[in-house]
Amino acid sequence: MPRLPKGRRMSLISAQHISVAFGAANVLTDVSLAIDQSEIVTLIGPNGSGKSTLLRALLGIVPLASGQVQRAPDLRLGYVPQKLAIDRAMPMTVRRFLSLPQNVRDKDARAALARVGLAGQEGAQMAQLSGGQMQRAMLARALLTDPQILVLDEPTQGLDQQGEAAFYRLIEELRLETGAAVLMVSHDLHVVMAASDRVICLNGHICCQGAPHVVSSAPEYRALFGLGTQGALALYQHAHDHVHDGGHVPAGPAPTTGAKDAFGRSPTDPHYGHNHA
Ligand SMILES: Nc1ncnc2c1ncn2[C@@H]1O[C@H](COP(=O)(O)OP(=O)(O)OP(=O)(O)O)[C@@H](O)[C@H]1O
Ligand SMILES: [Mg+2]
Repeated sequence: MPRLPKGRRMSLISAQHISVAFGAANVLTDVSLAIDQSEIVTLIGPNGSGKSTLLRALLGIVPLASGQVQRAPDLRLGYVPQKLAIDRAMPMTVRRFLSLPQNVRDKDARAALARVGLAGQEGAQMAQLSGGQMQRAMLARALLTDPQILVLDEPTQGLDQQGEAAFYRLIEELRLETGAAVLMVSHDLHVVMAASDRVICLNGHICCQGAPHVVSSAPEYRALFGLGTQGALALYQHAHDHVHDGGHVPAGPAPTTGAKDAFGRSPTDPHYGHNHA
């Protein structure tokens, strides 16, 4: 069968020019993206830049002020929210947790727990799980729908480096086994660069994006990622105080380094660290 031209291929989820506002505050302005089958896309950006809101908008949980979100028909989706909406003080076994919001068969619960390295933990209390075990339990629940896409909001928050690396290995294995796409939020730039097919930097709008293997050999990579901690800082500071065409002025720290980016622009240049003119 002839392949459809790239622009015509059906994405799992796509957004066209979406904006989201809470009251008078514009949180997302004119964001467009598409997630295709089996790709791992990571969203990065400062606190409050709208990453969780973007995921929730894509899932249809928050209303759009404008624009459109499209999900493939009958899309099976597994979502791990940033914050768990259960009271940790409330007694709840892992098995019960897996049955929220809808009941699942013992066999499926057992298989999902085994897949995330929590075999036999059905009777454990959620409140007594370690941070890493809790993340795995949440992932197990997300796997129960046999998802075509996993949407993970800072899934390794609170894990140590080893726990984090193990978690991302698990995600990669799952992708290989099931072909599921992964859209996740992460703050760990090293992991992001190693584990993602595509990286999107958000600050109320999409600041920049690209494939790590392309970005890493490009000059802008050095301005954004390539300088260790400084690179990480540059990433969070690059021109986040500028005004885009839509007039959106995102919140965020102003650049403070005296460094020049790979284009010889200083941090006061509105396009510091950007790969567009
Ligand atoms: N339900 C809501 N009602 C009002 N304001 C909200 C709501 N959800 C998010 N916001 C606001 O929208 C902005 C973006 O929040 P969001 O949680 O999307 O940021 P984030 O990039 O995920 O941050 P973090 O890195 O801290 O998780 C924040 O200013 C936040 O206060
Ligand atoms: Mg968030």
